[in-house]
Amino acid sequence: MSRGLMGFAIAQPILRGLRGNDGSRWMVGTLFLLALLSPAWAAPTLERVLPVGLVEAPPSLDPLDAAWSGAPVASVSLYPQATAPGGPGGATRTLEARVLRGGGKLALRLAWPDATADLADAKATDRFADAAAVQFAPAAGTLPYVGMGEPGHPVRVWFWRAGQPAQGLTAQGFGSLSRQPGEAVEAQSRRTATGWAVVLRGAESADRPAAVAFAAWDGAEDGRAGRKRLSAWRALAKPDARLLEEMRTTGDPARGARLYAEHGCAACHRGDSPHARNSGSLPPEGAQSPAWGGPAPGMGAGLGPDLTHAGGIHWPGYLRRAIREPAAFLVPGYAAIMPVLPLRPEETEALVAYLMTLN
Ligand code: HEC
Repeated sequence: MSRGLMGFAIAQPILRGLRGNDGSRWMVGTLFLLALLSPAWAAPTLERVLPVGLVEAPPSLDPLDAAWSGAPVASVSLYPQATAPGGPGGATRTLEARVLRGGGKLALRLAWPDATADLADAKATDRFADAAAVQFAPAAGTLPYVGMGEPGHPVRVWFWRAGQPAQGLTAQGFGSLSRQPGEAVEAQSRRTATGWAVVLRGAESADRPAAVAFAAWDGAEDGRAGRKRLSAWRALAKPDARLLEEMRTTGDPARGARLYAEHGCAACHRGDSPHARNSGSLPPEGAQSPAWGGPAPGMGAGLGPDLTHAGGIHWPGYLRRAIREPAAFLVPGYAAIMPVLPLRPEETEALVAYLMTLN
């Protein structure tokens, strides 16, 4: 472990607690886990936390600096961007993320496979550059929509494009990226044996971000704008009560699968899974007539966003919100046609649990 690494934030003890190889922390980790996870969903909840390493001096900008090898590491799944125009984008399925905090700075080291280095070139407008972005959710309030935030729920973005200086940006919805005044972001990138390693570093904001999400673009695959892969939110270190509420569900996924069929969700959404293969344009055989009357003849899946990766990209809190109040936030590119169904709270929860199995 590198010098200067003082310790890890709470998520690290949790992970150690699970492995049970550290006596003192084992108790802390186990109690915390019991409080947070019962009755179910242990693994998915851990997958939604990103451990943070604490250091004394500002973390190194050099991705190959030995200090980074001592930082806690997380493997983050990237999913095709499937809702907004552009997607799906690239073949990068996982990204390795490390976070260090110290000396008034927050730094993230991202590493991902990419066989070709595609650099930004202003003269070659038919070629695109490799790029990556880190998105930060504010410390308070509802966790914003993971695809660039939403009106009234802004996100901060650190953006790196190969061959260009990094940028500090802000967004309140798809296509609304603008510069974030006063946000100085530094980046350094290196080619590794398999792809890119990039460190993005900026000032630690007074209101520490609650969560981060990642995106990667592959220039060789014409990656640009919406044509990218993205991750779900990850809580930075110890999630507070509000985030825990958003990341857990107590619903019964099997019941949710039945409700999904009964309420005709598949008439508008794709949602393949081991529970229900509702990939066609008609509700599955035996499904009751949907509560809202059903789609007009000829209309089918595709009216609403593809939910094939809903559990990979979204948190239960967002899915709950999307089912309860579909019109409160419209997924970019879609109309306000999703019906508000008369669901009991435990039915909504079952649907959420079912959607979380789609990843
Ligand atoms: C009449 C078509 C229709 C039906 C039926 C329908 N939806 Fe939707 N749904 C949409 C549309 C359109 C959107 C995107 C606009 C919005 O956000 O309201 C959406 C958005 C969503 C989202 C957010 C997806 C994302 O990618 O962010 C979820 C989750 C969702 N619906 C779940 C359901 C569930 C569960 C059911 C069944 C109980 C259902 N929907 C029934 C049309 C429908």
